Amino acid sequence: MRKKIIAGNWKMNNDFEQGLKLASEVNNMVKDEINADVQVVICAPYIHLASVGKLLSGKVALGAQNCYTKKSGAYTGEVSVEMLKSVGVSYVIIGHSERREYFNETNQFLAEKVNIILENGLTPIFCCGETLKQREEGIHIDFVNSQLTDSLFHLSPEQFTKVVIAYEPIWAIGTGVTASTAQAQEMHEKIRNHIASKYGASLANEITIQYGGSCNASNAPELFACADIDGGLIGGASLEARKFVDVIKAMK
Ligand code: 13P
Repeated sequence: MRKKIIAGNWKMNNDFEQGLKLASEVNNMVKDEINADVQVVICAPYIHLASVGKLLSGKVALGAQNCYTKKSGAYTGEVSVEMLKSVGVSYVIIGHSERREYFNETNQFLAEKVNIILENGLTPIFCCGETLKQREEGIHIDFVNSQLTDSLFHLSPEQFTKVVIAYEPIWAIGTGVTASTAQAQEMHEKIRNHIASKYGASLANEITIQYGGSCNASNAPELFACADIDGGLIGGASLEARKFVDVIKAMK
């Protein structure tokens, strides 16, 4: 059985005090209300991580939104995976479309990030997804497959089983437009088939593939009911505890 994972990506939101308050509210609600076998993750900004980590119970894991590719050294402003690990981070989002777009992160650079995250025993949440133009041109499936091939297909099967994929169509992020269940399920199935073409069907069947993009408590039940959707990467709806926990509740 593959793991079901709902992760909140706060992005660059919440000052320190607001972040602690939100994390503590989510943690308490999850403790009281969630019995399902679902892993909840809070991906907070770097400066919140150490303190947020201290107030999370076992049911909610700590995630970062980024990392650097080097172990240590003269890389002013960067944060290593070892540092993240030392404050209790266990998941790291990489390849978010916002980082690809605003910080020019390439598939090759992301391959290096995957390597160092896995070397440290943490779980990468690898984001992929197409633009609206690519979808309209009918090249969305090839495009997403190439993101996976270029950043992940150098991994050994054993390494690959430790990766979580997040499919986030760029046109659905923060826009209020969600992919239809048919569109999301189709892409998730294609992603799984692509993984199977390299690593075999039984390995592909074990990989958690999250959906992200304007996912909220209203559309989550239908999305999460799809055969190949194993959770969500939630932006806006993770910024209020009640809204986030209601999304988590949609995962059965
Ligand atoms: P929204 O849920 O705000 O659309 O953001 C999705 C996302 O980018 C999560 O990483």
